Amino acid sequence: MQTTHIQRLSGTNLGTYSFDEFEERKQELARLKEQASSFWQQEKTVLVAHGIQNCHNILDLACGPGVVTRKIKSLVPDSHVTGVDLNESLLNVAISDSQQDGFESPTFRKADCTKLPFETSSFDFVYARFLFQHLCDPDAAVTEINRVLTPGGRVVIVDVDDRDLNVTPSCSSFDQLTRAAGFFQAQGGGNRHVGRTLDDLLASHNFTNVTRQVQVMSSDQIGLDSFFRMTTQFKVEQLPKELAGQMRDLIPEIRRELASMNATISAGIHVASGLAC
Ligand SMILES: C[S@@+](CC[C@H](N)C(=O)[O-])C[C@H]1O[C@@H](n2cnc3c(N)ncnc32)[C@H](O)[C@@H]1O
Repeated sequence: MQTTHIQRLSGTNLGTYSFDEFEERKQELARLKEQASSFWQQEKTVLVAHGIQNCHNILDLACGPGVVTRKIKSLVPDSHVTGVDLNESLLNVAISDSQQDGFESPTFRKADCTKLPFETSSFDFVYARFLFQHLCDPDAAVTEINRVLTPGGRVVIVDVDDRDLNVTPSCSSFDQLTRAAGFFQAQGGGNRHVGRTLDDLLASHNFTNVTRQVQVMSSDQIGLDSFFRMTTQFKVEQLPKELAGQMRDLIPEIRRELASMNATISAGIHVASGLAC
């Protein structure tokens, strides 16, 4: 079997996402920041609807560069907010950006989501955004979430399901890139179809009041170019080297085709939630 970039990551427990392996790290950091900011108004409504509150002890699991962690702290400033991630480069960005903000910042810590360095029942609310699609062992992560939540504490997991990533009118080269990225992510133990499984995953770990809803985001909200950059272009980096080269050359062509058709891209983002037992 072909050894892929993504397969190499599985030994590190970073699943199928390692920021340090991106060729264009600056670009990827900008993408993560843009993605975290662009839909915050919609995301904020989801978090409030799921009961995030002041005075909660909140964990942002796999916080990346900490953009959403800081936004949560601003939303519920009397809460204690902790961001954890396994990647030191991203954590360093989270810490230095927070220091520049000048208000009381969240706490950031390096940790593996399957072995959290927190005592049992440490948190009232755990948020995990775009983590589960990358995990080889999602059960181990949910077990840890259950352990660190207080009984009755809430988890909210947000993730993709590429069956809900659509282009209208259809564009075959876009679909080709989406399929290739999904295939190689699955080879590495990840799952770009994880969205639909999240409620069953929580229920199988005895979470109660489990729900799952789909939030639709679309290029009509922020423009085709930004949406394409955020949801699709970066996937090239996660392909085996040779294929990545071919796909990289295709990107300008895909962009031109989408623009000439005045296409709309939409993504259904799955939001699953439950209460710890
Ligand atoms: C796509 S990024 C999402 C980052 C952030 N949640 C956001 O939405 O901007 C996936 C994140 O998961 C982190 N990650 C992957 N495996 C992890 C693990 N086992 N434990 C903790 N973090 C992990 C990566 O380092 C990366 O920051």
